Amino acid sequence: MVDVKAVALKKLAPSDLWVVVVGDGESKKWGQVARFVDSQCQGLIKTLMRDGDFSGKAGETLLIPKAVHSQALLLVGLGTPSSKSLERQRSYRQAAHTAAAALLKTRAQTATLFWPSEDHDDHFAYTQGRIITDALCRALYQVPTRKAQGKSKPTTLKRVHVAALENASLQALQAGIDLSLGTAAGIKTAKDLANLPGNVCTPSYLASEAQRLARQYRSIKTTVHDRRAIERLKMGAFLAVAQGSAQEPKLIVMEYHGSKRAKAPIVLVGKGITFDTGGISLKDPSAMDEMKFDMSGAATVIGTMQALAQLKADVNVVAVVPTCENMPDGKAVKPGDVVTAMSGLSIEILNTDAEGRLILCDALHFAKRFKPRALIDVATLTGACVVALGGPVSGLFSNNDELADELLEAGVRSGDLAWRMPIGEEYTEMLKSNFADLGNIGGREAGAVTAACFLWKFVDDIPWAHLDIAGSAWLGGAQKGSTGRPVSLLVDYLTLSQ
Ligand code: BES
Ligand code: MN
Ligand code: ZN
Repeated sequence: MVDVKAVALKKLAPSDLWVVVVGDGESKKWGQVARFVDSQCQGLIKTLMRDGDFSGKAGETLLIPKAVHSQALLLVGLGTPSSKSLERQRSYRQAAHTAAAALLKTRAQTATLFWPSEDHDDHFAYTQGRIITDALCRALYQVPTRKAQGKSKPTTLKRVHVAALENASLQALQAGIDLSLGTAAGIKTAKDLANLPGNVCTPSYLASEAQRLARQYRSIKTTVHDRRAIERLKMGAFLAVAQGSAQEPKLIVMEYHGSKRAKAPIVLVGKGITFDTGGISLKDPSAMDEMKFDMSGAATVIGTMQALAQLKADVNVVAVVPTCENMPDGKAVKPGDVVTAMSGLSIEILNTDAEGRLILCDALHFAKRFKPRALIDVATLTGACVVALGGPVSGLFSNNDELADELLEAGVRSGDLAWRMPIGEEYTEMLKSNFADLGNIGGREAGAVTAACFLWKFVDDIPWAHLDIAGSAWLGGAQKGSTGRPVSLLVDYLTLSQ
């Protein structure tokens, strides 16, 4: 883990590299930080910009060896951030991303980052601390591989000092950095779990990792229920999905007690399908390997629990993870089979590929025993959500406007965006079955909405939100891998909205 610290301009220590983020505006509009750096290198930045060697456009970088007190100088363009807050944040995030990538390429061990300052504003400093640290930790992440050849070199970066003006904003900057460093520990766990192949990351493996975290952090308690216990709980929908697999299903419960004020917990539920073949309703083979990521909801809530423990957050949170494989087999559940969920509702399984809602409905019902003040499930639930929203935002469905708004705001603050989608009786009707209380699919239209409406049937009137992360949880193609989303959104909500 990299050490990131806010350091006052007057107390800077030598480092291998100075990284300076500059806008493409006139130097007259420079803040105190940029003026300080420019004076330290005898006006070099101003000269380079005047001569057109560096313009400060977004995405631009320029590396100059031995520029200041024998340290290298890396210039990074910021462009002109818009005055609208979301777009403005995007500009800063992009600059942080460019700076982090270029910084790692230099293979420096220590760096000092000079970030544009605005009006000595604490809130700005705090947000920038988060943005900078998020980008650094993302750039530093390396996918676990089993490559014998062509491995990526280990990173060299040990320490980053973020130069700040000498006033209270130094503390605000450090507070933002610290929140992101704690969150990054959880993101790393979530990404590692999701990136592992399905033959390694089995339900039993997820359970053992949850138990490992309980040993690592004394504030976390983990309980693992095996198939016998799941049978005793009468989780007929969950067991139906698990019955076609040679892997044992597990119901993982993690409890984090961070608040002494005896407050009801928030319960997180994460979909933990460690591989989704579709079952008897077998999937099309193209990109089927990506269905190892179908446990991203589970990875996210486990990573979130770690981040809360790392941050010693003042909340009580329980994570419930139903985990199994969805496989075709002689023993597998078939289309038309009717099962009874733990809540007592009967379900006609019309498509065995709509398995996520089957394991989640039992986990949501089970979660009520913790008397939650809010219930949030996270799941790579529908291809329809990928079609509707793609990767940039997660789909958010809720029966409670206040909870929905808080989650949307947490998404904006953390840059881990969500977008609200509807639920309603008009859609619930599409789940009717001739043979049971509910069918597990709602037809071709509004697939992400009918899936959410299915879950809604199991939460009574507890404030509940469902995050469909089918589009946001991982990237495909050349950058294939987990994004660790929405750990940032959840940690932000759980630490700041209370
Ligand atoms: N895990 C999939 C959803 C998914 C698909 C996530 C593609 C990410 C990318 C889920 O279990 C599933 O198969 N859903 C079906 C539901 C359908 C049968 C009603 C789907 O979306 O096709
Ligand atoms: Mn499926
Ligand atoms: Zn699935």
